[in-house]
Amino acid sequence: MKALEGIKILDFTHVQSGPTCTQLLAWFGADVIKVERPGVGDATRGQLRDIPDVDSLYFTMLNHNKRSIELNGKEETGKTVLERLVKTCDVLVENFAPGALDRMGFSWERIQELNPRMIMASIKGFGPGPYADCKVYENVAQCAGGAASTTGFVGELPTVTGAQIGDSGTGLHLAFGIVTALFQREKSGKGQRVTAAMQDGVLNLCRVKLRDQQRIERGPLTEYSQYGEDIPFGEAVPRAGNDSGGGQPGRILKCKGWETDPDSYTYFITQAAAWKNICDVIGKPEWKDDPDFATPKARLPRLNEMFGAIEDWTVTKTKFEVMEICNPLNIPVGPILSMKEIAAEQSLRDTGTVVEVDHPTRGKYLSVGNPVKLSDSPSEVLRSPLLGEHTDEILSDVLNYSDEEIKEIHASGAVGK
Ligand code: COA
Repeated sequence: MKALEGIKILDFTHVQSGPTCTQLLAWFGADVIKVERPGVGDATRGQLRDIPDVDSLYFTMLNHNKRSIELNGKEETGKTVLERLVKTCDVLVENFAPGALDRMGFSWERIQELNPRMIMASIKGFGPGPYADCKVYENVAQCAGGAASTTGFVGELPTVTGAQIGDSGTGLHLAFGIVTALFQREKSGKGQRVTAAMQDGVLNLCRVKLRDQQRIERGPLTEYSQYGEDIPFGEAVPRAGNDSGGGQPGRILKCKGWETDPDSYTYFITQAAAWKNICDVIGKPEWKDDPDFATPKARLPRLNEMFGAIEDWTVTKTKFEVMEICNPLNIPVGPILSMKEIAAEQSLRDTGTVVEVDHPTRGKYLSVGNPVKLSDSPSEVLRSPLLGEHTDEILSDVLNYSDEEIKEIHASGAVGK
């Protein structure tokens, strides 16, 4: 048995943020019924295609373990089918542009009339306020949520990160809200509205930067490299380069081969408790008792000198050798892994975090499996559905339409060919 077995999700999501949420629920055993526009489907099916006429990796990697029904929610028969889906399902998840579902006739009030136990979960770019009506994509959320202004290097452009914290990050937040609402429904018997705004999700992940905004009003941020470099602080939290976000200074340092390999680097954290081991490893045992270096406070204005000496050592080793030497000494380091290395990493395959999936029209491809492991509810990654692959199956098995009725629904054009 899977954790969410028996839970039916009416999945009205598209692009990335919503689909990451419903994919997680599907991995935990929910029956996710993806509703797509007849003949069109989720726009990502056709975006960034690497093989002509085949569902893109963008789509396949975000829609595992789901069933697909083609259904026009704006057409009369389609609306009737949709109403039956609302009455049958436990959760409706959507990330349309603001107002789209209301225009289709499925406002929260209407949903409650149809099914008071329904949990209706939405992702929007912004919460209520001046930008509530905006359409939003990943990088807009990264900028509006505080990530871009605090990412990059001092004096250079604000920078977005490759981690999809606006889309996949908010999908995660929404999944957490849905499961919590399902838990409350156990006691209350009632559904409820769950909303997650992308700006809010990004800001939640940037919590430490709002912490620093308040600290900066009381004095310089001494753990930021610019403090030791005598670059004055402004009024807002600056970009911190590769400084670590915590109180333990860390940086990205060159490793052997950096001249030709763009990923031959390590992250190196000068954890206070490991300082003596660090001094021994890098050949600076005298720093253990040197008043300029012996304490974390003394080191703060000298981070460039300190990391320079550490880099003189790391550059003589590969990033993996640095890891092998430092780990037993409790010195926290991490190799900068390329996607090529991650794709080939056997330990990630062994845990199901990287999986090979077979697809009828694309063949084999790699995907990221469920990063959350439940001991009693293992996740098996099943390929994404073709457009409308399960239309008839859902009409008959989930919605109990007769063969005759299904023929009529097809004839109306509400569910595609
Ligand atoms: N049947 C009938 N109509 C359907 C349908 C179906 N099965 N599925 C979608 N549609 C319609 C919608 O009702 C909408 O129609 P309307 O504008 O006439 O009311 C239309 O398709 C387009 O929906 P929309 O959400 O506006 O798509 P878009 O491509 O213009 O915008 C986003 C895409 C992502 C910008 C927008 O959906 C958005 O801002 N979503 C919220 C934030 C978000 O999740 N962003 C991140 C995405 S990764």
